[in-house]
Amino acid sequence: IINGLDRSLLSGKHLLITAGGTREAIDPVRFIGNRSSGKMGIAIAEAAAYAGAHVELILGQITVPQPVNKQIKIYRVESTEEMQAMVTKLFSASNILIMAAAVADFRPVQIAGQKIKKQPGQEELGLQLVKTTDILKTTAAKKRSDQFVVGFAAETDSLLQNANKKLESKNADLIIANSVAGNDSAFGSDLDQVTILQLGASPIKWPKMTKKEVATKLIQLLATKIK
Ligand code: CTP
Ligand code: CA
Repeated sequence: IINGLDRSLLSGKHLLITAGGTREAIDPVRFIGNRSSGKMGIAIAEAAAYAGAHVELILGQITVPQPVNKQIKIYRVESTEEMQAMVTKLFSASNILIMAAAVADFRPVQIAGQKIKKQPGQEELGLQLVKTTDILKTTAAKKRSDQFVVGFAAETDSLLQNANKKLESKNADLIIANSVAGNDSAFGSDLDQVTILQLGASPIKWPKMTKKEVATKLIQLLATKIK
């Protein structure tokens, strides 16, 4: 039971949510990845399903169990490219996109076909990386007026300033700013302290609460944003 959440608040609505971290292969046994438990995105998916929405959840690497809920359709992906392809495929049928995934910003230029072996005497290994596609930015650029796009901003410093830049540069309707500086919030934690940013509105700082509570409040807020 989710406190105070109306079970028909989002009935008939389609929510597309990404969660977890993407992984970029270096060779068959190694990858570059982002720290992410998947908890926040999964909590949002659970709250949306509880509120009656059809939920499609694209999951990268997560450290918590995958949700078991008939109202949540799950798609597993590994790389940023796979996540992007799945978002592109599912976006047009969605009313709301929530990009909670920790997406890799760079990937190796080449994926070695065989395990990279240490050479005798080798003390260094260079790895050339190339930027990945910004899924949020490219998808939000294509959104219709009846679609609402939400992103996250994970910052270690200058939280509001950096998050505001993301709100503007990514064409998002709403950004959830999240401090990931060394404290008990964010990564892997059940608690989170977030600030909601929207164009033309003052930031709204929510008190520290559980990720499930953040998810519930977010669903209630989003319900007011779509018809
Ligand atoms: N994001 C995305 N595709 C990427 C990188 C990020 O869709 N290639 C999304 C994330 O899912 C998140 C938002 O963009 O919703 C912000 O991610 P964040 O890592 O905080 O910002 P970046 O734009 O990647 O900038 P930086 O990491 O340099 O701070
Ligand atoms: Ca990033």
